[in-house]
Amino acid sequence: MKKASLPLSKSFSIGKIDKRIYGSFIEHLGRAVYGGIYEPGHPAADADGFRTDVIGEIKKLGVPVVRYPGGNFVSGYRWEDGVGPVENRPKRLELAWGVLEPNTFGTDEFMKWCKKADVECMMAVNLGLRGAEEARSLVEYCNHPGGTYYSDLRRKNGTPDPHNIKLWCLGNEMDGDWQIGHKTAYEYGRAAAEAAKVMRWVDPSIELVLCGSSNSHTRTFGDWEVQTLDLAFDKVDYVSLHQYYDNRLDDTPSFLAKNMDMDRFINTIISVCDYVQGKKHSKHQINLSFDEWNVWFHSNGDYVERWSQAPHQLEDIYTFEDALLVGLMMISLLRRADRVKIACLAQLVNVIAPIMTENGGGVFEQTIFYPFMHMSRYGRGTALCSPITCGKHDTKEFTDVPDLDGIAVLSEDETELTVFAVNRDFEEDYQLDVDLLDLDGFVPCEHIEMAGFDLKQTNDFAASPVHPTEAPLPTADGGRATARLRPLSWNVIRFKKQTL
Ligand code: AHR
Repeated sequence: MKKASLPLSKSFSIGKIDKRIYGSFIEHLGRAVYGGIYEPGHPAADADGFRTDVIGEIKKLGVPVVRYPGGNFVSGYRWEDGVGPVENRPKRLELAWGVLEPNTFGTDEFMKWCKKADVECMMAVNLGLRGAEEARSLVEYCNHPGGTYYSDLRRKNGTPDPHNIKLWCLGNEMDGDWQIGHKTAYEYGRAAAEAAKVMRWVDPSIELVLCGSSNSHTRTFGDWEVQTLDLAFDKVDYVSLHQYYDNRLDDTPSFLAKNMDMDRFINTIISVCDYVQGKKHSKHQINLSFDEWNVWFHSNGDYVERWSQAPHQLEDIYTFEDALLVGLMMISLLRRADRVKIACLAQLVNVIAPIMTENGGGVFEQTIFYPFMHMSRYGRGTALCSPITCGKHDTKEFTDVPDLDGIAVLSEDETELTVFAVNRDFEEDYQLDVDLLDLDGFVPCEHIEMAGFDLKQTNDFAASPVHPTEAPLPTADGGRATARLRPLSWNVIRFKKQTL
């Protein structure tokens, strides 16, 4: 058995974890809305048509914030189409995904759903085909109490109290030429700055996210952030990051090292934000909103009938190895919890999602559901930075990949400590010695693991073979606990402070 050690101390604090790091995303895309969260007539639907079985799954995940309504969709969206009497709402050609949008679900339905699902809304405005005018009208519709055209329209539409949406995205992936209304960095920086200005004049309490690059491999990566931040710096609070990984080449060792690319991405954008801050001699710190991240490739190339309504689209079925990478990506997010304040697993239901539904039927939890649920449940409090001392290996794409990757979290009330760790080794068990330096009185109380599955094993409506199980409790000896991490495994090692 290989050996590794993890020293832990309160003084290794990276920072307090913002719970919004466990956010997710619902786009008007495929069956995320229609047939996902909303399916009037379904046996589990409530009086508003919201699937209560899906809400139950979302509550299990403990998602605190959901980004809406896109994604690429938002860049062609007219929010006015989705409010008011349903019978008056227009059907539109939805150009981003080549489908029909019935608009029977819109802003007010989503906000009602948020209340029932106990989540906060992260609303995106259209800076593709539209701009400051429509963005400030939407803020007025959602957040102004009343006595003006748009706030009274909301009241007339059945919502007397403002929705009070605090978090807003200034468009989506505006650097990408696939985006409706794609812009250069200059065009977008100016558009975002002007939209931000008037949106904040309507409601000064809102927080704003500037669009960063669509991923870290674009031609304009880095320059895009520098230029757009330069133009909108004082007016925004966060810059967005998006990243999806794939195992198209079926090279699992490299696939399981891809969160090292994510680490580099995050660190680069932090440097860019700090560079622009320094250049401007400003005290204003820009933080990161990693508002799209996941594994995405299984559904690439799937046929979708043009102008169909709510088709099966981007319905990736996730494998066990995908779950391992999702866990690793979350470890990377927590590693920079000092600057990554928001993150959205893209997406939440049916579309590259942890939760799958059948129209008129049941739900199932994908493999990636579990590491997300564990982190969201036990990963709140303070992230503790401590590199694990372990062996390293090279892959086709990466060198010096640590066999183990992990992070520890001390709960807010300091009574619980959890170590999240992945063993990337294909063959060997690891003995992990956790040294609790100044964390007196903590004893292991549970070791949850996902291990021993075929890497390509998936779950479906009939069965969920890939799921967490209880591993033997780590042994404890004074301030040291020793756990066994099986090859290719996801591990959640929980400690509780003993009270005398
Ligand atoms: O999440 C799916 C799509 O991925 C989003 O619409 C877009 O923002 C990204 O390219």
